[in-house]
Amino acid sequence: IGPEVIDIRKLYGQTGKFTYDPGFLSTASCNSAITYIDGDKGELLYRGYPIEQLAVNCDFLETCHLLLYGELPNSDQKSEFVNRVTHHTMVNEQMHFFLRGFRRDAHPMAVMTGLVGALSAFYHDSTDINNPEHRDIAAIRLIAKMPTLVSMAYKYSVGQPFIYPKNDLSYAGNFMRMMFATPCEDFHVSPVIERALDRIFILHADHEQNASTSTVRLCGSSGTNPFAAIAAGVACLWGPAHGGANEAALNMLEDIQRRGGVEKIGEFITQVKDKNSGIKLMGFGHRVYKNYDPRAKLMRETCHEVLNELGLHNDPLFKLAMALEKIALEDDYFVARKLYPNVDFYSGIVQRAIGIPVSLFTAIFALARTVGWIAQLNEMIADPEYKIGRPRQLFSGAAPRQVKPIGER
Ligand code: ACO
Repeated sequence: IGPEVIDIRKLYGQTGKFTYDPGFLSTASCNSAITYIDGDKGELLYRGYPIEQLAVNCDFLETCHLLLYGELPNSDQKSEFVNRVTHHTMVNEQMHFFLRGFRRDAHPMAVMTGLVGALSAFYHDSTDINNPEHRDIAAIRLIAKMPTLVSMAYKYSVGQPFIYPKNDLSYAGNFMRMMFATPCEDFHVSPVIERALDRIFILHADHEQNASTSTVRLCGSSGTNPFAAIAAGVACLWGPAHGGANEAALNMLEDIQRRGGVEKIGEFITQVKDKNSGIKLMGFGHRVYKNYDPRAKLMRETCHEVLNELGLHNDPLFKLAMALEKIALEDDYFVARKLYPNVDFYSGIVQRAIGIPVSLFTAIFALARTVGWIAQLNEMIADPEYKIGRPRQLFSGAAPRQVKPIGER
């Protein structure tokens, strides 16, 4: 507890008083040692390491090890961790039949919510949330199986056969193959694209107590199994104010492009500033960052690299996004409210360039965030102070009254 933090339990615990803080604007729900954000400076650290260094020097599985176990792995630890993860990339064959019950045009996040929750029906040796070994194996299984599940959801939606994991490939390379290979053709992915996808995973791996992570913690606090808790996180992430923003940001850019592109930005911004329009600049603003989101900077760089690699450096949407960013950052409305691009502003352009359909963007986010969700869940369960989450309320409903028989109502 730092000098500016009031421990409300000690202050009010015995008095029956409580605080009112809708949206948790100034209430810490837990004590965590995983991720640190300084929103004013635009800083993000995983276990003390700046995101900029992790994105350049580490791969996603090293980052997973860091988030889960607190330290970056040495080479032996990395080999062991990679072996453990790749050992679990397959899913029970019955999951294929479960998936086949969905409509082919179902939203991938609807499918993912179901598939992730359904894992608890298959892996009974990892469902006891109070058993550290169960939690550990559930963590490995979830990290390993998410790419398989996301790619299965995609293949099902386009009517192509599922591609099984190939475990001598990297995490990102394997995912790309399961997404885009067909059984009758050789498949190759460029190292630049593979690295870009891996970087997207690193940048999305954790972000302290955001809505979906808090959902996972609250759900897990009842003692439910880890797969159910992560499925709750997937469901929460789906919303456009959270993980769904990458899809919404790309749709917004495409909409402006259809209206006439760069020349129509001014008109669009005027609409955004009109509160009655209900339109927001998607991919802008953040509850914690009141400065440039450091992930957005890295994502913009990655966007450059990917578009150059694919010969798309004149991509009109990228140009539009950069022009929109510049205009917004000079506009009084955005300046006064400290609204900057967040990670979702550029991630959609990268993903679209590498062939990922827009409707799958949030599922990719869920794939990457899974490790953060599990690390946070494990931290909560292992905390001796942990209790079932049970927010209080301010009641503003009817005063006590009597039920009348139905004929008299
Ligand atoms: N476009 C226009 N105005 C905005 C935007 C935006 N993107 N974001 C915030 N504002 C305005 C609000 O209308 C409000 O204005 P007011 O003070 O005149 O009423 C002010 O800025 C403060 O915004 P709040 O909504 O109170 O901020 P909050 O912290 O509750 O919301 C959020 C943060 C949800 C991210 C919001 O900025 C938003 O909806 N952004 C667009 C969606 C988005 O990109 N989400 C992704 C977040 S990052 C992530 O999940 C990975």
